[in-house]
Amino acid sequence: MNHLDPQRHVRGESQYLDDVPTQQGTLYAAVFESPLAHGKLLALDLSAALAAPGVVRILTAEDIPGYNQIGGIVPDEPLLAEGHVHFRGQPVALVLARTEHQAHAALKLIKAEIELLPIITDPRVAAAQGELIVPPRTFKIGDSAATWASCAHVFEGVAESGGQEHLYIETQGAYAFPTEMGGVRIISSTQGPTAVQRHTAHVLGLGMHQVEVDVTRLGGGFGGKEDQATPWGALAALGAFCTKKPVKLVLDRMADMRMTGKRHPYSSDFKIGLDENLKIVAYEVTFFQNAGAAADLSPAVMERTLFHATNAYFVPNVTATAFSCRTNLPPNTAFRGFGGPQGMFVIESAIAKAAEELGVSAARIQRQNLLRENDLFSYRQPAEMCHAEQAWDTAARLYNLCALRKDVDQFNLENKLFKKGLAVMPICFGISFTKTPMNQTRALVHIYSDGSVGISTGAVEMGQGVNTKIAQVAARTLGISINRIKIETTNTTRVANTSPSAASATADLNGKATEMACAALRERLLRHACTEYTLNYEGLEIRDEEVLAAGIPAETNWDKLVSSAFWKRVALTENAHYATPDLHFDATTNTGHPFAYHVYGTAFTTVTVDCLRGTYTVDALRIAHDFGQSFNHFIDRGQIEGGAMQGIGWMTMEEIAYNEEGRLLSNSLNSYKIPDIYAAPKVLDVHFLDTPGHPKAILRSKAVGEPPLMYGIGTYFALRDAVRAFQPHTALPFSAPMTPEKVLMSLYPEFVQPRETSWDTSRV
Ligand code: GUN
Ligand code: MOS
Repeated sequence: MNHLDPQRHVRGESQYLDDVPTQQGTLYAAVFESPLAHGKLLALDLSAALAAPGVVRILTAEDIPGYNQIGGIVPDEPLLAEGHVHFRGQPVALVLARTEHQAHAALKLIKAEIELLPIITDPRVAAAQGELIVPPRTFKIGDSAATWASCAHVFEGVAESGGQEHLYIETQGAYAFPTEMGGVRIISSTQGPTAVQRHTAHVLGLGMHQVEVDVTRLGGGFGGKEDQATPWGALAALGAFCTKKPVKLVLDRMADMRMTGKRHPYSSDFKIGLDENLKIVAYEVTFFQNAGAAADLSPAVMERTLFHATNAYFVPNVTATAFSCRTNLPPNTAFRGFGGPQGMFVIESAIAKAAEELGVSAARIQRQNLLRENDLFSYRQPAEMCHAEQAWDTAARLYNLCALRKDVDQFNLENKLFKKGLAVMPICFGISFTKTPMNQTRALVHIYSDGSVGISTGAVEMGQGVNTKIAQVAARTLGISINRIKIETTNTTRVANTSPSAASATADLNGKATEMACAALRERLLRHACTEYTLNYEGLEIRDEEVLAAGIPAETNWDKLVSSAFWKRVALTENAHYATPDLHFDATTNTGHPFAYHVYGTAFTTVTVDCLRGTYTVDALRIAHDFGQSFNHFIDRGQIEGGAMQGIGWMTMEEIAYNEEGRLLSNSLNSYKIPDIYAAPKVLDVHFLDTPGHPKAILRSKAVGEPPLMYGIGTYFALRDAVRAFQPHTALPFSAPMTPEKVLMSLYPEFVQPRETSWDTSRV
């Protein structure tokens, strides 16, 4: 079964927001953004812009009929700036004009008078000044402080990881229409239709029933549209509400890069203690998360960093503390992995540091400390159906880890100006929204009287293939061909109160709800068949096109059965609710059972560094991954490959640079590089581990969205391994991304000016 969409995509037939036929009278919106990163907004002069050709209206905070607030976890984010501006790119006013060009031209005529206030871009500086989004959190198990004295080895260090642009191919946008009775209908490019609906209702002072949000599909989300599609939806809706005209707002690429938040950069301190057998006895870590100017999802991201602070390892004594630090940058947000990768990068750095200092291979320490069945995470959930060792050992056997290491060492003996490096990256990722109440959804299934089926759920298709999976689940459960099934748009009037499509949980949650609804319909149709033919329905199956199972007259098939059920007034619609069972978490003690299950895997990365140029290639990425019982190898493999590539990009070439004034320097695809086909590993193997899957995973097929991103972390350590083969004495900070520029500087430290901070990105 292939992904249902690609043929439509390559023919240009798939409908994205910008393909929706434009309604007559539509106004185009453009956003006037704060030109400064922090200041008092003293005055706004709109007169020249209002007089510009085509301009119909300019909306500011004063025009908001309801609450000027779109903060999700913390109410600290106005839709339009009021009194203060907190980051460059913050929306201040909305220009509505007859053409897109006229709207953008008018932006240049707006004058804002702003009194500059001190700008903070560094999370440690923010923390030192008490600028925290929420109080710090500590996850603790055992007593790390008491164990240091008895450790054979203790190492400390600092690790830094950078942000990451989502770079969904489709930029943020929305198209809003006024509806009768004063409501709005919004077509939105969002992962979270309900979030757009809720905040828009709030902003407009309406009930949620007055706001309809519809999503056909997204050209990528990656977390960037979990919360941050909301402002554009709400702004377009505000325009439509105030003018009674359709309003379309689509960000161009550079505006999207300037105005939206990204993956959170982290700066962290670690301390790791090992015994003489290289068992990790204790781990202490302090994370400084660069949250940007408003909370957005930062507290939840910070929490997931704590959940994943020990990656796939068992550590009996852990103290992990995280600070969410308020800076004058666009609010950072969800990004595939949701803080998990940032946490894992630090413990991998700690292990690398220990290995380098002790002169042993990192792989020895890693393998020695992998999670085993019933080991406790710091939050007290045990590792159940744990495949950490199986993943590692299978990969080691399949890809011959010893030979890989030998080949790298041999190559390095024989070559002076090219060096190879190798790293192993085990992963462990928890599946479920860490906020337990979010793990719920519904499916609405209609069987039409001709036997065709329409399905609505809370799932948003963003290229990940969730619609294909849901159609497969329905086809299997009903026993019909997939051609009879249509997955409808995601719409708040058909499925209400949904969580965003996020946390790798979309196929599990919405698949389970679909399975439940379809199972109920199937049972009902079987009962009907049995009444019709005076049979006992136990053990019968409905089969598409074919004769029904034993006993049912040969001339009956799905079509006839559905038709006869309709004429006998049998209900052919079902609505099912699914909430992941047995989840709980106490955020005061930071203990509980927050995840339905964990996903495991191991990746081997080999790289070659050109030691004259600092450039490099990823020679091979070899993965053994725990899919459970995959029922769509194409989609699942695609998620692993794409996720790993995105992780490689984060760890290697994707470098976000802000200057001290909070201006984004890496503001286009000229200055912000993402991996292309040439950056892809020359060999990319994905092995499907033989694991049973988990009953809470849909059809025992485990979640695949986020876990593979973390395989990319191995690339950083493989590059480090190669650099150290050339330059064993380089003082290499743990600082990702490992751009060619940084590789070059670490190859030739004698040519690098000493600097106060590890890497001065403001010079980029
Ligand atoms: N994206 C990935 N994980 C999560 C999560 O736990 N919560 C939310 N809201 N989004 C996520
Ligand atoms: Mo979340 S990073 O949108 O899965």
